[in-house]
Amino acid sequence: MKLIRVENYEEMSSSAARLVEQQILDNSRSVLGLATGSTPLGLYEQLIRGVHERHISYKQVQTISLDEYCGLSADHPNSYRYFMNGHLFQHIDIQLDNTHIPDGTASPVEAECQRYEALIDRIGPPHLQILGLGTNGHIGFNEPGTPEASVTHCVKLEESTRKSNVRFFSDLDSVPMHAITMGIQSILKSEQILVLASGKKKAPAVKRFLAGGVSEDFPVSFLWKHPHVTLIVDKEAYSLA
Ligand code: GLP
Repeated sequence: MKLIRVENYEEMSSSAARLVEQQILDNSRSVLGLATGSTPLGLYEQLIRGVHERHISYKQVQTISLDEYCGLSADHPNSYRYFMNGHLFQHIDIQLDNTHIPDGTASPVEAECQRYEALIDRIGPPHLQILGLGTNGHIGFNEPGTPEASVTHCVKLEESTRKSNVRFFSDLDSVPMHAITMGIQSILKSEQILVLASGKKKAPAVKRFLAGGVSEDFPVSFLWKHPHVTLIVDKEAYSLA
């Protein structure tokens, strides 16, 4: 694994943006795997600036998002579709048809998971997968205990994950109990994986990840099985490592 240590959130975001933009310059038809959460917001701001300042074009790029809350429709302000549209897609020259996110309202949910995994295999897997890191080591919504062989599936969210994400909602009761997420195996299919971690809250998880060892109760540790992972951490996230 390649470790890139930077000073702060801004540097983490611009360093990640350079890697994403290089991928697109190398292959204008790149498939990007995208994450939600606060961590990649700075990266997405940089990518938007890159369209104007560095003439990066997303016209032929496809994106595959990691996850979506169950029960939230695309126009729900807390859905990940809404998040991705508002924070990235609306501001770059990507074709919305080329942006893929699980449908949290699809029924039965199992069929949607199968459709999504087939889509990953058909148009992907991503050349470059962006990942944030949950404080409990989750990636996407793969909570501790998720098997390595998992593909896209529906998960019951842990209380700690719902509490971490309550800041985006009006109250805890409004945070969905379930989500659809790409599985560990789906994520490991990507050609390259870029993990971002910023801030003190992530320091214990970064420490445990960097200590090595693969364990089902710490999902990000499965990335040790992948040959091409880059971790960008800022000073605070690295402070316990
Ligand atoms: C959510 C998302 C993850 C994300 C994690 C960390 O649970 N499903 O993909 O990595 O939160 O979020 P944040 O970046 O806000 O710390």
